[in-house]
Amino acid sequence: MNYDSILSYIKPDQKEKAKVEELSKKIINFLDNLSLQKDIPSKAVLVGSVAKGTWLSGKADIDIFLNFPLETSLQNLKKNGLFLGHECIKKMGGMAEERYASHPYVTGTIDGYEIDFVPCYAIENSSQIKSAVDRTNLHNIYIQQNLKSEQLNEVLLLKKFMYGVETYGSEFKVGGFAGYLCELLILKYSNFEGVLKAAAHSWEPGLIIDLENYDTGENFTEPLVVVDPVDKNRNVAAALTLQKMSEFVAASRNFLSEPKEEYFSKINLNGNSKLVEKLFTRRGTETILISFKPPEVPSDAIYPQLKKTADSMSRKLSDEGFIVENNGYWTDEIDLAVIILELSLWSLPDYKKNVGPELWNEYHSSKFLEKYGNQAYLEKDRWVVDIPRKQKDIYIFLNYYLQKENIHHLKTGKHLKKKILQYHEIHDVSDFLGKNPPPEILDFLFRFLNPGQQLWR
Ligand code: UTP
Ligand code: MN
Repeated sequence: MNYDSILSYIKPDQKEKAKVEELSKKIINFLDNLSLQKDIPSKAVLVGSVAKGTWLSGKADIDIFLNFPLETSLQNLKKNGLFLGHECIKKMGGMAEERYASHPYVTGTIDGYEIDFVPCYAIENSSQIKSAVDRTNLHNIYIQQNLKSEQLNEVLLLKKFMYGVETYGSEFKVGGFAGYLCELLILKYSNFEGVLKAAAHSWEPGLIIDLENYDTGENFTEPLVVVDPVDKNRNVAAALTLQKMSEFVAASRNFLSEPKEEYFSKINLNGNSKLVEKLFTRRGTETILISFKPPEVPSDAIYPQLKKTADSMSRKLSDEGFIVENNGYWTDEIDLAVIILELSLWSLPDYKKNVGPELWNEYHSSKFLEKYGNQAYLEKDRWVVDIPRKQKDIYIFLNYYLQKENIHHLKTGKHLKKKILQYHEIHDVSDFLGKNPPPEILDFLFRFLNPGQQLWR
């Protein structure tokens, strides 16, 4: 396949390059001048895909790292880092937002570009790492020294392909491939097709890619191990889930057997509310949505809690005898969060079997019989009793377990629990669709019904 036409729209042109470079320079000058003025020992450095020349056209996020000397206290690094970021955004007429990853940083939009201001320590090698983001400078240098200029296009193709098949991004929401990981894969397999061929035909869980031959790959347990060339104790693919690794392999096989340009853009689902409702009805299952307000915590904290809660609800329901076919979650991270549960059995009989002790254990048998008397019967050598079931129906069941006194039976995550207790609604799909939900959720519901669509064109 000839990739020129794809490159023509994903490769930043001279005009975009000049604009991004000029803005970056302006920001760095401002930051370094202000540091000098305020006697802050920080040096601003452009890192990330813009510095490496591996950003996709129109998607530049400008990563500015504020480098502090190793002897700076973490407290001063935070304080001065946030100060510099805020001042810069204010001065350039942008909008600021503070975020706390494992590390605090400021992000702002200036001239339509998202700029991250991240304070870090100016380290020279991995033994000096003091905070989670310190490696980034070393990544930058490694890629600039090792990636050949003709490989820049290959990185762009790989990133865009991964974006199209929805495996790009190391944030928890995706669990896919980070930009730096894409760059290392190109170093390993030379070019875009090389990566896809390797993935399609030879990858399997447990694969170790160790470009600098550190021999530390065995220390990691994740499905894909890519030993960081700048830090032998770090797996660059640590955030990649088995799900996304598998999806990338499947998409690579599909693409190689019939290459199409459409793989480089996300699929368009165009689901309307009526169609989604019809598709759910046709499945003959009962699908329940629990809606509430998402907590005001960083994105990488919301999604794990949503997953934990959805999984815990499913488990609780299964333990009780309901049959949960699928679960999922979605949030706009601001106004609305939903957990979705699809059940193939959602109403249970009036009684439930309560299995007691073995007959041979006389002490426990007598305790059991004290409680249930002659209602108890034997199944082989075990005492059993049929007791009336309190929550026969899924709606009653969920209602009960989402109350203050009972929610501790579920593992919800701290912030989510608070939000669910403040306010939640339980609906079936048509009820939910009838309330004019935001259009993005239709997209989510469509994906829920067609979980593999992004792999095919
Ligand atoms: P970005 O997520 O902005 O990646 O992180 P990127 O390489 O600039 O790619 P895009 O084009 O914006 O998506 C900036 C830097 O932080 C480090 C990498 O060094 C990356 O270049 N980083 C980020 C990691 O090492 N691992 C991660 O999971 C995320
Ligand atoms: Mn970036």
